[in-house]
Amino acid sequence: MIQESIAQLKAEIESAQISDASSLEAYRLKYLVRKGIIAELFEQMKTVPREEKPRIGKLLNELKQLAETKFEQAKSQFAEQSDDTPTLDLTLPGRKPFLGSEHPVQKVLGDMKRIFFGMGFSEATGPEIELDDYNFTKLNFPDDHPARDMQDTFFIRKGDGEDIVLRTHTSPVQIRAMLAQKPPLRLIMPGKVYRNEAVSARSLCVFHQLEGLYVDKGVSFADLKATIYSFAKQMFGSDVNLRFRPSFFPFTEPSAEVDITCYLCGGKGCRVCKHTGWLEILGCGMVHPNVLRNCNINPNEYSGYAWGMGIERTTLLRYGITDIRYLLENDVRMLEQFE
Ligand code: DAH
Repeated sequence: MIQESIAQLKAEIESAQISDASSLEAYRLKYLVRKGIIAELFEQMKTVPREEKPRIGKLLNELKQLAETKFEQAKSQFAEQSDDTPTLDLTLPGRKPFLGSEHPVQKVLGDMKRIFFGMGFSEATGPEIELDDYNFTKLNFPDDHPARDMQDTFFIRKGDGEDIVLRTHTSPVQIRAMLAQKPPLRLIMPGKVYRNEAVSARSLCVFHQLEGLYVDKGVSFADLKATIYSFAKQMFGSDVNLRFRPSFFPFTEPSAEVDITCYLCGGKGCRVCKHTGWLEILGCGMVHPNVLRNCNINPNEYSGYAWGMGIERTTLLRYGITDIRYLLENDVRMLEQFE
């Protein structure tokens, strides 16, 4: 009886098809485990008559050997493609590496340029290391104006009659442009500026401004207003409201500061706008006759308007960012949100 079972199992094992990892496992469970068929036959050895034991035992050992050898062979064959090798799905989209993104300040500058180019402005630039004469004097700053103080200005050279500064605003590019070209002039002048100020959530000691200048015959404050209105609606959305507040700058007369309705509360008043409903976006005005004169332009013949705005400040407003320092720290967790 047991002999027949052994012969039958032998034939079964020899012809067993092991074609993959799961049929290998099924084979193991059937023949090789402690409660498998072969182990069961070993159990039955107890009932085999004594004189038969050596012969049957030998057959049984051979059977076990056969089963194990077959298992080992099949196992090594599947080793390379075993369960823990992940199956490759060629239809999956590839993993995209983060290649970097445009900095939000550059994005906003790009939008500003597009808007003003669309209105016929061209771009001009000037040096960041600037003559004190262009940064202050030709812009009609009196000699004792507080903006010239060591507190605000980084001086490169001071006291020998030809002071050199890190420009504190982009307005000196107006002077360079008017000295170099005859009107009409219609320019935007973006760039980096520097101020000797403590860094905080609201101010940095280096930031960007975009300056604008339009000089021609018969330019009026109405032209300035129309330009700023058009810009603000394109930049912040068509439902934004504006207000012009009287202000003072040495290089413009009259001067104004422009506010837009708060992006957060829509003008009702909240924490961001300090409960005023308004947020300041720029300073502007009609170019002071002294400034035109300093650049050899006759103020009786020509007039002009100018404005200056902080690009970081606009970026904060645009994206609702609450701390200006995020824009300088280059933390990838921040930057990758602007892809
Ligand atoms: N230069 C000024 C500043 O940095 C901003 C400014 C105000 C520029 C009025 C202008 C202007 O051209 O007309 O605060």
